[in-house]
Amino acid sequence: MSRLAIIGGTGLTQLEGLKIVKRDTVTTPYGRPSAEFLTGDLYGREVIFLARHGNPHSIPPHKINYRANLYGLKQLGVEQIIAVAAVGGITSEMGPARIAIPDQIIDYTYDRKHTFFEDQDDPVTHIDFTYPYSQNLRTGLIKAAAKANIQVSPLGTYGCTQGPRLETTAEIRRMERDGCDLVGMTGMPEAALARELGIDYAALAVVANWAAGKTEGEITMAEIEQHLHKGMADAGEILKQFIAA
Ligand code: HPA
Repeated sequence: MSRLAIIGGTGLTQLEGLKIVKRDTVTTPYGRPSAEFLTGDLYGREVIFLARHGNPHSIPPHKINYRANLYGLKQLGVEQIIAVAAVGGITSEMGPARIAIPDQIIDYTYDRKHTFFEDQDDPVTHIDFTYPYSQNLRTGLIKAAAKANIQVSPLGTYGCTQGPRLETTAEIRRMERDGCDLVGMTGMPEAALARELGIDYAALAVVANWAAGKTEGEITMAEIEQHLHKGMADAGEILKQFIAA
């Protein structure tokens, strides 16, 4: 069985049900990961958990050391990653507390360390990224959601913005024209770095709020937290079924 890691985002700093047996503080050539890597038993399967924003939640999306996180997981022998991430919903299906298993990405980030192949001595490397998420893991997550009786969106394009601010209405309109269904701040370069390392990667995107301009008024953190609470509970149920399969 492949070695599985779960990266938890906003609203998932601790993985409920994980019986921790080992804590690894890893150093990498790229610096320090966001937190300790927690190895434990999750419903009978060995899983490694990493809190993307640190524990406690303190690292904003543009400051996360994505390379250290991914390289550290590779060092621990991880072959599959399920990334849990809070997002805003853009298209009509993606209302608050909805869970989506996206199949595509558009990257709007800038100024992030986004590749392992950047030094003069590194080979020029162009990974294939036609399908940025592992189809195998996506299928597993979609099946797990059905078993958990949780309606999910089995497709969707995730647009990754730089943050940490939320978007303007015009930016969301543009993203919608581009074909984005969801907006988040952490999906890239995480997915591409996983591909560079040959790690299978898929995302469970939990909608925390309607994206900017999709409802009257402004987006509040209180609203985000409330919807995330329900969405993350559902994400936990999907993970449980995924592991049981
Ligand atoms: N935009 C970007 N990232 C997010 C949002 C949003 O509206 N909600 C949660 N993460």
